Amino acid sequence: MSRGGGQAAVRVVPAGTTDAPAPVAGPVRVRISDLSKSYESDRGPVQALSGISLDIHDSEFLTVLGPSGCGKSTLLKCVAGLEPVTGGRILIDGKPVTRPPPDLGIVFQRDLLLDWRTNLDNVLISVEFLGLRKRDFVDRARQLLDLFGLAGYEDRYPWELSGGMRQRVAICRALVDNPGFLLMDEPFGALDAMTRDDLNLELQRIWLRDKKTALFITHSVPEAVFLSDRIIVMDRNPGRIAAEFVVDLPRPRTLSDRETAPFIRYSAEIRATITGMGILRNE
Ligand SMILES: Nc1ncnc2c1ncn2[C@@H]1O[C@H](COP(=O)(O)OP(=O)(O)OP(=O)(O)O)[C@@H](O)[C@H]1O
Ligand SMILES: [Mg+2]
Repeated sequence: MSRGGGQAAVRVVPAGTTDAPAPVAGPVRVRISDLSKSYESDRGPVQALSGISLDIHDSEFLTVLGPSGCGKSTLLKCVAGLEPVTGGRILIDGKPVTRPPPDLGIVFQRDLLLDWRTNLDNVLISVEFLGLRKRDFVDRARQLLDLFGLAGYEDRYPWELSGGMRQRVAICRALVDNPGFLLMDEPFGALDAMTRDDLNLELQRIWLRDKKTALFITHSVPEAVFLSDRIIVMDRNPGRIAAEFVVDLPRPRTLSDRETAPFIRYSAEIRATITGMGILRNE
């Protein structure tokens, strides 16, 4: 397949195909093998994930798309070592995950900011958790807040911010110690379209500069195409991988690339596949 999004650039890998050629050269960072996860609830066990097998390569940007309740957040929490798995296993750098890996930055679906700490101190909380010297990271925390449009809000509190601003503080918190591995659960879901565009660009820039490994969750097909090397589509009941797409478009991608024929072809193909599976409606 040629780079540059020429004809027939969309590659759909059938679900369950594990021997497809790696889209990204580089060692496997995360290996998920036959993962299952069930939760106990008042109404009995809930099978959130079943038979998930997936490799994430070093420096790869992998996005998970799927309907509400298909287990995207569960998958992310299992990879982060925050939820024990019920079956199968997850290896990060060859080692089973039992707790969050040291170079992990995570953005949760809800911002989980502490309202009694200033925004700057919220950004620095991960530094404290890691036992690093806070003062070594204050400048970087301020730079990140500035980069994400929050200059002047460092000494204010999360309860003084809009939902989108809070989420941006949470993104700064995930990036403050420059982690090599990023897990992001719908980080831009609460943002207006223009801010979301800006942050898509910023995330791509940071990712290209630092070559982070990223597992990203979104409900937006164009956002997934814009950011990703590869896109996994999940279905629900139980949560499982339904399709996989390799996004073979050159980088850096610009916002206007979204109006180009190759980009539109990717979005249309992914949407058609998702609709064809009955996961999304077309009308
Ligand atoms: N702590 C929990 N206890 C019981 N069931 C849970 C728990 N967390 C999630 N679930 C269930 O597991 C399934 C997957 O939930 P999850 O939050 O992973 O979905 P999701 O794909 O992230 O959805 P959304 O797009 O709405 O965020 C759902 O049926 C949900 O009700
Ligand atoms: Mg979720």
